[in-house]
Amino acid sequence: MTIKQHIHSILITTIIITPHAHSITRTIEPTRSRSTQHYTVAIIGTGYVGLVSGAGLAEFGNTVICADIDQNKIDILNNGNIPIYEPGLKDVVARNIEARRLMFTADVDAAIKQADAVFIAVGTPMGADGSADLSYVESVVNTIARNIDNYKVVCTKSTVPIGTGAWIERTLLAHGVDADLFDVVSNPEFLREGCAVKDFLEPDRVVIGANTQKALNIMCGLYNHLFAQGTPHVLTTVTTSEMIKYASNAFLAAKLSFINEIANLCDATGGDAHTVAYAMGLDNRISAQFLKPGPGFGGSCFPKDSQALLYMGEQNNVKLPVVQASLITNETQKTKPLEKLLQHMHNNLASKTVAVLGLAFKANTDDVRYSPARQTIQGLLDHGAHVKVYDPAAMENMKALFPAIEYCDDTYQAVENADAIIVMTEWDVFKHMNLERVRSLVAQPLLIDARNIVNTDELTALGFTFDTIGRAYLNQ
Ligand code: UGA
Repeated sequence: MTIKQHIHSILITTIIITPHAHSITRTIEPTRSRSTQHYTVAIIGTGYVGLVSGAGLAEFGNTVICADIDQNKIDILNNGNIPIYEPGLKDVVARNIEARRLMFTADVDAAIKQADAVFIAVGTPMGADGSADLSYVESVVNTIARNIDNYKVVCTKSTVPIGTGAWIERTLLAHGVDADLFDVVSNPEFLREGCAVKDFLEPDRVVIGANTQKALNIMCGLYNHLFAQGTPHVLTTVTTSEMIKYASNAFLAAKLSFINEIANLCDATGGDAHTVAYAMGLDNRISAQFLKPGPGFGGSCFPKDSQALLYMGEQNNVKLPVVQASLITNETQKTKPLEKLLQHMHNNLASKTVAVLGLAFKANTDDVRYSPARQTIQGLLDHGAHVKVYDPAAMENMKALFPAIEYCDDTYQAVENADAIIVMTEWDVFKHMNLERVRSLVAQPLLIDARNIVNTDELTALGFTFDTIGRAYLNQ
């Protein structure tokens, strides 16, 4: 390591723990003994965050008990299956069960009792007013209060509003739990659905918010495997750590809304937003990631967390117009694929057959929460179209929302007799579909590509009329 790299690593691993956010009164560093300790972790909640974090922490060498009140989920896991769609997760889970570092149980009380650290990884869905609904978190905190009889770190892994750590502490104390028996810590997760395993095992950074030395040592012990290989880590207060998660998600959401606005302007002026994004991304200060124009962001995180940040702003009398604008732009963006289709079909979709390729909010997930495909399908139905759909993983989840549309077995069945195709999700299977075969099956060669993944030269050669978001076509 060069001197410069060494100084850089010291800087990024500098630990500033302040009991009060505004006054740096002392500096705590993890003590050396942390590396030799072995800890047991209880992860409460076996959804995306809980399951991936549990498997990942076990992969780092810790003993992990994943607990969930849903016995059905636990049975599935104990039978060697994974209740969610997440590439690569099954292997990590199997490997760690085999190594006896990972266990699953519906006995949440027992899991908590055995743990040095209890990770809260239950859902924090969006409440009616945009706030994060903490009822599941509260229920876990109550369970911890009933079972805690020796010192434990209580760690929030789910995205929780700023101030939740302090609220958990107050709640445990109100239950009569001795203050010496616990410390509340924040350790936000930055995993993306679809590449969550890699994101956990090879993160850009680990953020830990802890207000005591004891808690910090345990948390650093859990991540020692990563720290030993030089993963940057930010050790800070609980409140700052909670804020880092929201700020990161809202910033990425705003970045997407920005490039989508540029894409719309490109569509109106003939510019090419993808080239604009590429050139912007070459500037290290901007970076190329999260600059792909599309049908708007979805999923359980960006919409929910941006909304929750706005709510926190309102509660604290702080205006956040950038965050608000990014959400407004995103809602408009979700209407673009249908708008483009209507332009090409002279506003008439009555009795037309439209094939929607892709239902998930992005590729490599079965998640349809806030998926732009939902707006598109609803819009198509409102205009009287017959809707045929295909998605490699998300059809079951969409059936619950749109039971009456036609679910197909593959791309080709979906496009058969279609008057138009809309590509909503960037699955590989759509990138590589056989366009010649598609051309032979459709009633009309019209394709709207909301993800800019279909080969436009081939589309042109096959006589398709096509449109996308933010792409200028010299040959159209
Ligand atoms: C997001 C964050 O990326 C994670 O770091 C974070 O941990 C997670 O939320 C969370 O809070 O749990 P995720 O929602 O799984 O992860 O999905 P992303 O890959 O971030 O995609 C979000 C949306 O942005 C998708 O709708 C995607 O299609 C869209 N997107 C992304 C684009 O339209 N263009 C891009 O260039 C990138």
